[in-house]
Amino acid sequence: MRLENKTAIITGAGRGIGLAGAQAFAREGARVVIAEIDEELGRAAEAKIQTNGGEAAFVQTDCSDSGSVQALMARTHELYGALHVLYNNASVFLNKIDGPVTELAEETWAKVLAVNLDSIFLCCKYGIPLMVESGGGVIINTGSSASVMGIPGCDAYTATKGATVSLTRSMAVEYGKQGIRVNCICPAGIATEMVKASSIDDPDFDADFFFQRAPLGRLGTPEEIANLAVFLASDESSYINGAILRADGGTTVTPIS
Ligand SMILES: NC(=O)c1ccc[n+]([C@@H]2O[C@H](COP(=O)([O-])OP(=O)(O)OC[C@H]3O[C@@H](n4cnc5c(N)ncnc54)[C@H](O)[C@@H]3O)[C@@H](O)[C@H]2O)c1
Repeated sequence: MRLENKTAIITGAGRGIGLAGAQAFAREGARVVIAEIDEELGRAAEAKIQTNGGEAAFVQTDCSDSGSVQALMARTHELYGALHVLYNNASVFLNKIDGPVTELAEETWAKVLAVNLDSIFLCCKYGIPLMVESGGGVIINTGSSASVMGIPGCDAYTATKGATVSLTRSMAVEYGKQGIRVNCICPAGIATEMVKASSIDDPDFDADFFFQRAPLGRLGTPEEIANLAVFLASDESSYINGAILRADGGTTVTPIS
């Protein structure tokens, strides 16, 4: 039980990497708040965890909206009286709608920045006071391969993922003194609905090229990211602060041949 007596909020925990994280956190003894915009996904995630004996509460949240995030923090305080782990996982990747800046609609830019970046600002702004009150804690942000390399055709998404890494570093310096560690996981090629929609289901996706490039020759699983998130959330990583951890099977360090 590596997260016993910890309260954790995970944004976008209704499916994919966030859901695997919520299940893993609950297995390790955490009380998990599922901050998900989609009611059906959120309720199903809550039920799955509770059926397996875990402690979870779905709080329907649009993490790009200030009022919704403030209500999430108030509800977390009301339910559990503390916050120890904030896992900023929710994002959108708008395949074929996002694009190169010259072709990008201003509304798309605004939408992607709101969900992927404003959400981190808002959850931290309104979550950190509760975390400080709880004696300190851990923030896990979510980057991407797009945080560490140039990926064409999705400039709004890549801008948010680059900013997430920079924000992680500055927050690690700022809040370390208050007992809060801030780290970032950069996944790539994880088998979820997002990756299906952005690549695997896309007729233009060159699977041969991707798998040649991926040193492990396969996609990753959401559980493989959840294992890293549990480590970062637990006291086992007590001296890790400001780290940007690639979890991509080595895909982003492989030269193109
Ligand atoms: N899957 C990958 O290969 C991959 C690669 C790089 C980065 N990532 C990052 O990992 C994270 C999780 O990705 P995933 O593949 O599990 O995505 P996903 O699309 O499968 O799941 C995202 C979840 O976030 C929720 N969500 C969307 N907008 C929200 C909002 N405004 N408020 C609250 N919840 C909201 C969705 O309903 C969904 O349940 C994202 O930050 C993503 O950018 C994933």
